[in-house]
Amino acid sequence: MKILFVCLGNICRSPLAEGVMKKMCAERGLDWEIDSAGLIDYHQGELPDERMRRAAKDRGYTLTHRSRPVKESDFSYFDLIIGMDDYNIRSLRQDAPKSCLQKIRIISEFFVNVKGYSTVPDPYNRNMEAFYNTVTLLEDACEGIIKEFSN
Ligand code: 4NP
Repeated sequence: MKILFVCLGNICRSPLAEGVMKKMCAERGLDWEIDSAGLIDYHQGELPDERMRRAAKDRGYTLTHRSRPVKESDFSYFDLIIGMDDYNIRSLRQDAPKSCLQKIRIISEFFVNVKGYSTVPDPYNRNMEAFYNTVTLLEDACEGIIKEFSN
């Protein structure tokens, strides 16, 4: 299984999803390939936002990914391309070759216990509580992804 998580900047939500999923896969002995990317290249080469790294660290995840934009070959390479909100999905669908459209899914499809969210909202302009909530949402979604694709 090869999974690419995608958000806008690739410095908050998707690198967190990558870190959470990598840890869960390691703990469960799943040999999956996990990566993340952004729809904009503004933060290319940067570590995740300091607030995101702090919230992740407090919950047991060390984030070391360097931001990179989505590239054309990602659409054929990955089995599953997971966006965080409706804008992410629209952009991915616009850029993807037709044959890869079915790989694109929204993260909220995988929620197990989370109620009341149809996306994982961007915490970038919000407070620390929003960053911690992003961890909660993405832990739940990663559980759901593992549930759906491991057997
Ligand atoms: P992310 O959050 O998409 O979760 O990485 C953002 C980070 C930076 C920007 C937008 C969203 N930005 O416009 O710089």
